[in-house]
Amino acid sequence: MARVFVTRALPGEALERLRRAHQVTVWDGVLPPEPAVLRAALADVEGLLCLLTDRVDAALLDSAPRLRAIANYAVGSDNIDLQLTHARAIPVGVTPDVLTEATADLAFALLLAAARRLPQAAAAARDGAWRTWEPAQWLGAEVDGATLGIVGFGRIGRAVARRAEGFRMSVRSTADSELDELLAHSDFVSLHVPLTPQTRHLIDAAALRRMRPSAILINTARGAVVDQRALIEALARGEIAAAAIDVTDPEPPPPGDPIFALPNLLVVPHIGSATHAARARMTELAVENLLAGLDGRPMPHPAG
Ligand code: DGY
Repeated sequence: MARVFVTRALPGEALERLRRAHQVTVWDGVLPPEPAVLRAALADVEGLLCLLTDRVDAALLDSAPRLRAIANYAVGSDNIDLQLTHARAIPVGVTPDVLTEATADLAFALLLAAARRLPQAAAAARDGAWRTWEPAQWLGAEVDGATLGIVGFGRIGRAVARRAEGFRMSVRSTADSELDELLAHSDFVSLHVPLTPQTRHLIDAAALRRMRPSAILINTARGAVVDQRALIEALARGEIAAAAIDVTDPEPPPPGDPIFALPNLLVVPHIGSATHAARARMTELAVENLLAGLDGRPMPHPAG
């Protein structure tokens, strides 16, 4: 039996399976453990099941000399220094596939909400600004037949493309177009790349200037793929029409952050995979990864 630390209570039944096999401690806070608290908790732990809010860096690994398996409760692994875990021969697992459709649904929900200005229209209705049926009020962008540029054509990007077919959209992706060309010719741009040193601020001021003034940007990938300051300026100046983002940099944004002051920027709190089914399946995959890693078997869903 190994000692295992789980950094948050997780939906679904799979943690019970982990408890039957190992000695499991689950952090019971709503907020993540502070780094120093997590380091102290890992002193004699062999298995770690962590979230994207937990940074696995040199300091953490140094404080966990017995650690031999890490399961990340996410498809992304940018919170983990994979070079260090590799150097220390600690396998790392992630949770692919099970959140693909949920995340693609959210990307499309954001696209539709921004195109049709749903948050503003709903707020107006609630606030008593719905005076009558107005021919020229709350006009938005037509989605049917529009061009969708998908940046990153992996599992989630392709799932978004499948949804776009139903809206008769013309789809371009970075699998078949240059990024600059895609940005210049798309009515909607949806981001689906992992966060790496190469994709950090991929969408910067220059990239935003290449987009159409009528274009709408959707980000369900990672906040730092976009230079957030440049996005705020581009939206304020009308260089692009709107954006709808599930991810920010940092997360959560500090109180009073300018991203909450822009009428053409819709922000939701990193809920791409937040369906009951997807989150329960993520727990299953994370547990399978950790059980395999602790047994010395290859993880079924390794990172990288
Ligand atoms: C991930 O899995 O990487 C998402 O951002 C959270 O589900």
